[in-house]
Amino acid sequence: MAYNLLKGKRGIISGALDENSIAWKVAEKAHEEGATFVLTNAPIAMRMGEINKLAEATGSSIIPADATSVEDLTNLFTQSQEILGGKIDFVLHSIGMSINIRKKVPYTELNYEYYQKGIDVSALSFHKMLAVAHKLDAINDWGSVVALTYMAAQRTYPFYTDMADIKAMLESIARSFGYHYGVQKKVRINTVSQSPTKTTAGNGIKGFGDFFDYADTIAPLGNASAEDCANYCITLFSDLTRMVTMQNLFHDGGYSTTGVSTSVLQKFGIEG
Ligand SMILES: NC(=O)c1ccc[n+]([C@@H]2O[C@H](COP(=O)([O-])OP(=O)(O)OC[C@H]3O[C@@H](n4cnc5c(N)ncnc54)[C@H](O)[C@@H]3O)[C@@H](O)[C@H]2O)c1
Repeated sequence: MAYNLLKGKRGIISGALDENSIAWKVAEKAHEEGATFVLTNAPIAMRMGEINKLAEATGSSIIPADATSVEDLTNLFTQSQEILGGKIDFVLHSIGMSINIRKKVPYTELNYEYYQKGIDVSALSFHKMLAVAHKLDAINDWGSVVALTYMAAQRTYPFYTDMADIKAMLESIARSFGYHYGVQKKVRINTVSQSPTKTTAGNGIKGFGDFFDYADTIAPLGNASAEDCANYCITLFSDLTRMVTMQNLFHDGGYSTTGVSTSVLQKFGIEG
């Protein structure tokens, strides 16, 4: 059901690789809620061509941009305003990549070149996006920016290796930039800490399937799906949450505040 929550709003949505991507679902929902937006992804991701289907279905333009390049991001924000006919109201940062995770390098033996690349793609890109938007004054007053994160930024998940540190940095950038952008332009910046989700990025993590089931067994409401996450992002882009900023918001069916569940105890043969 649509509520016209984003009627008249203009956005930029990064990270829609295929139909499993969280960003893909956000784009579909934003379209349903009346927004117009530009889709963006790394030039290399365009080769798969999947994003064209989403652009067609949502009447959107695509602007390739490597999120580590200030030049690309400057072009993205400049062109988006031209295409959409005004300043931007919402931005989704849905970008993550760790070569250490992909190559299954243990945390105690991290490759530092990969580590730096991970920081650049997954955390600094958020600062760069915000800095470019700020410099160009490309976001409307009361605009909303959301980046996606994971709870390993707060608690240790051994298999999440360098991305745990990188997500901690991402969440810190939301607070730090959120202060400055809030004072100057009333722009809101938050991170959404999402449940394990079966996407290309998610499935790349060692033991992801088992961990997905584990989290699902702990969370009183079960794991939040990509579609649930998209709905939550839409509320954060809407005017209904205009005083929410500089927060890390858990979207995980209650997982983060549950110590143990009876279902998990029962798996150990203990009556819960
Ligand atoms: N899947 C999960 O379990 C999960 C859980 C919590 C948070 N997240 C976060 O959600 C976000 C989206 O991931 P997803 O799960 O939808 O997976 P995904 O693989 O569909 O999306 C990741 C996106 O990052 C893009 N990307 C990589 N390098 C880039 C670059 N240099 N410039 C621009 N874009 C680049 C990819 O092309 C891809 O579209 C990530 O930040 C991820 O860490 C995922």
